[in-house]
Amino acid sequence: MSNQIKAAVLNKLNGDFELETLNLASTLSPHEVKVHIVASGICHTDEAVRNGQGGDYPYPGVVGHEGAGIVEEIGSAVRSCKQGDHVILCYDYDGYCKNCLDGRPAACFNWNKLNMEGFNAEGKTPFSRDDGTEVHNFFNQSSFATETIVDDRNVTVVGDDIDLRKVGPLGCGFVTGSGTVFNALQPKVGSAIVIFGTGAVGLGALMAAKITGCNTLICVDVVDHRLETAKKIGATHIINSKEEDPVKKIKEITNGGVDYAIDTTGISPVMTQAFESLTSGGKFAPVAVTRHEFKIEHPFADLTSYQKSVIGVLMGDAVPQKSIPQLIEFWQASKFPSDTLEKFYTFDQINEANADSNSGKVIKPVLVIDEDYRP
Ligand SMILES: NC(=O)c1ccc[n+]([C@@H]2O[C@H](COP(=O)([O-])OP(=O)(O)OC[C@H]3O[C@@H](n4cnc5c(N)ncnc54)[C@H](O)[C@@H]3O)[C@@H](O)[C@H]2O)c1
Ligand SMILES: [Zn+2]
Ligand SMILES: [Zn+2]
Repeated sequence: MSNQIKAAVLNKLNGDFELETLNLASTLSPHEVKVHIVASGICHTDEAVRNGQGGDYPYPGVVGHEGAGIVEEIGSAVRSCKQGDHVILCYDYDGYCKNCLDGRPAACFNWNKLNMEGFNAEGKTPFSRDDGTEVHNFFNQSSFATETIVDDRNVTVVGDDIDLRKVGPLGCGFVTGSGTVFNALQPKVGSAIVIFGTGAVGLGALMAAKITGCNTLICVDVVDHRLETAKKIGATHIINSKEEDPVKKIKEITNGGVDYAIDTTGISPVMTQAFESLTSGGKFAPVAVTRHEFKIEHPFADLTSYQKSVIGVLMGDAVPQKSIPQLIEFWQASKFPSDTLEKFYTFDQINEANADSNSGKVIKPVLVIDEDYRP
């Protein structure tokens, strides 16, 4: 027995998203939660699965990992939510490895297996076609669907008063950018930071850097209107790197270099520029999903003499159930204006919405999947 849903399927590398009717498993395992999706952000990592930068994903599959919705049904062992709860979906983790027990589920030993390989913890996917073909999942979430089945660890419950159309992107793009600052870099008050790439991840990082008390907030991009948005959000300096050498300019502004640098572009020379912008003892976090490498030109001088470091961070090292409610509090206090970066699209406009993100036109496209939903 199964029930029919509508989902956007990626059938092949570089293919379009294709809206299809699929079957959703009708029985839940004890830890599973069935969610009616209201809306989902489109993250650049969905695009990375479509274009192959994100690794070898097993097509066909349903991606989407910034879902917000309403719990329809819970498995017998679920305690974290109940039917009717409003939820934001984030990544899955096992909860029992050393890093999970240390409070770092984004560094879960099973992270890739649970989020990137197309199957849930039991090696199954809830999606199939009438002919029996399995259609893979993503982030154990697959929010480009009218309904989905997730684990209770994917779920963060939020207040019923929150407009679910606006908050899905807190589950990836914004928690990644802000968490990179709050959890990984942990900047000192009064310090200087540069952010390369002012998409949702970069601007989430900017908002967090402002909250944390960085004094010099520099943003670099090649799209002027994105840089203008960064300025409105609080960047003290903006640099269009098509027009001037960003490293030279950053060193000028900061009298020698920044304390912290983030790259969200994943472009090899840009990652090198971000690292080169650091002052002695500075820290660099590359966060883009990319197959590109970057070069440290002078490892001994930079890493040893000048004690610069590169920090590995995934999903902003955020604990979803802790970090997402914190972001909602900042959002409600007008300190984290993530919704001002969003544009709504209908589900069948998914390819147009993704193209608008790729061209730089829209910072955070959100698919309103349930058009009848009212907050
Ligand atoms: N590691 C994680 O946990 C995680 C989570 C979410 C997203 N991501 C990744 O983070 C990256 C950023 O995501 P996003 O949604 O903000 O994407 P985005 O495409 O909206 O942002 C990238 C920005 O880089 C800018 N850019 C392009 N070329 C540039 C250049 N030469 N110099 C400076 N800026 C340049 C673009 O104009 C754009 O504004 C993606 O690779 C995404 O897959 C990683
Ligand atoms: Zn774990
Ligand atoms: Zn993402």
